[in-house]
Amino acid sequence: MDSIVLIGFMGSGKTTLGVKLAQVFDYHFIDTDSYIEEKTGLKISQIFQHHGEAHFRNLENQCLQEISDSKVKCVLSTGGGLPLRTENATILHQIGTVIFLKTSIEVTYERLRGDTKRPLLQCANPLQRIEELLNDRTPIYESVADYTITTDNKSFYGLIEDIKKLI
Ligand code: S3P
Repeated sequence: MDSIVLIGFMGSGKTTLGVKLAQVFDYHFIDTDSYIEEKTGLKISQIFQHHGEAHFRNLENQCLQEISDSKVKCVLSTGGGLPLRTENATILHQIGTVIFLKTSIEVTYERLRGDTKRPLLQCANPLQRIEELLNDRTPIYESVADYTITTDNKSFYGLIEDIKKLI
């Protein structure tokens, strides 16, 4: 069986659900943001602040390639912007089955309200930023994914059962 790749917007539950799925399938769990933080010794916010977003995007690409090359069977949780690079989308499909966790603007905002760790949301109007980014990115996530699952109002148990049926 392939690895499982979770893509989606910030706050869509990729990491929390990914940890649980990895337990259920007895796979390793890898989170691209944590992988980058371990490799660089820097927090994502520090990378953005000191080196800029373009540098972070290059690190994402390098790390993703390393994870793919390692061939480890895993549940992979990806940073929200990672699948937007076409090159990354190709690598994601080499890793495994790609599942998009889709969330509404309202639920996303509720979950991310007051967040201080995500550089893209440190602005005067985070709701507007979320709306713009979600509108731009949702069609891309959908086109990259093998499957799309709407997560609003769904329990973890329900989501895990849905994913078990897909894989
Ligand atoms: C980003 C999402 C973040 C992190 C970085 C950029 C994005 O990951 O990679 O802050 O561009 O959407 P999460 O989706 O895990 O929050």
